[in-house]
Amino acid sequence: MAHLHKQQNFCFVLFFMALTVVYARKAAEVSFQQNYKIIWGNPHHVFFLQHGREVQLSIDKTSGAGFRSKLEYGSGFFQMRIKIPNKDSRGVVTAFYLTSKAYEHMGAKHDEIDFEFLGNNGEPHMLQTNIFASDEGGREQRHSLWFDPTIDFHTYAILWNQHQIVFYVDGVAIRVFKNYSKLGVSYPSKQMHITASIWNGEPWASNGKRIDWNQAPFTAQFQGFNIHGCQTHYHNKYACYSPHLWWNDNKHWKLNPQQQQAYQNVRKKHLVYDYCSDRGKLHKECQMN
Ligand SMILES: *[C@@H]1O[C@H](CO)[C@@H](O)[C@H](O)[C@H]1NC(C)=O
Repeated sequence: MAHLHKQQNFCFVLFFMALTVVYARKAAEVSFQQNYKIIWGNPHHVFFLQHGREVQLSIDKTSGAGFRSKLEYGSGFFQMRIKIPNKDSRGVVTAFYLTSKAYEHMGAKHDEIDFEFLGNNGEPHMLQTNIFASDEGGREQRHSLWFDPTIDFHTYAILWNQHQIVFYVDGVAIRVFKNYSKLGVSYPSKQMHITASIWNGEPWASNGKRIDWNQAPFTAQFQGFNIHGCQTHYHNKYACYSPHLWWNDNKHWKLNPQQQQAYQNVRKKHLVYDYCSDRGKLHKECQMN
């Protein structure tokens, strides 16, 4: 009897272990619907794959498509796995960004933190990043990538806390924007939605060339809909600066030495364009780098 009991207990333990595994997996990969919603494009331009754990957006002559987070965030570590169109996609922009645009109609100056893939013009793909703070943008940087972003999913991430904004590609910091508000440089502070889209970027994204619509539709895939961010819906903005949120912890106030080294290496090998070398005089932060 005692023996049977033990076996039963053992079964229970196994059962709960199995449950925990199932829940842990669920926690690791939430579905699109849980955190995001489609805001642009008709059903022809949006496909759900992998039981809602992957979304494909497409663009053709009639429309592009986009989605955004249901909630807004005041700080966090935002990431997504993205695969961009595998065709000659000159003029087509695939974007993943944070934006406070929802408040623009109320006259609020807008903040934005952007990843933008500029479609391929027969050259290697370029990843552009930009930052707007209180409507001041014009902070483009362009990087070549050390892989082909059309073949596999890669992880693109934005760390945003009171001290710095860091853009990461597959865990490597490619860009750092520090909070230099003490020098009078504005720093993104407004609550933002997480947004992704595929859109017609001609002529600026295509050097004046036209999109080759014969190749349409162009498709991009997105995965990874968990959000590590401070919801302004539940907290006020200042609560989003709490040191108890892991991305605000002092180890995320600046890059550590290894990250710094990898970052310098990327700057040396992959930074193709930097606004600071071009219009640095217009931006005080450029004098600090
Ligand atoms: C920028 O840094 C200042 C301190 O230098 C801080 O008071 C402010 O809250 C920071 N801004 C944002 C938006 O985090």
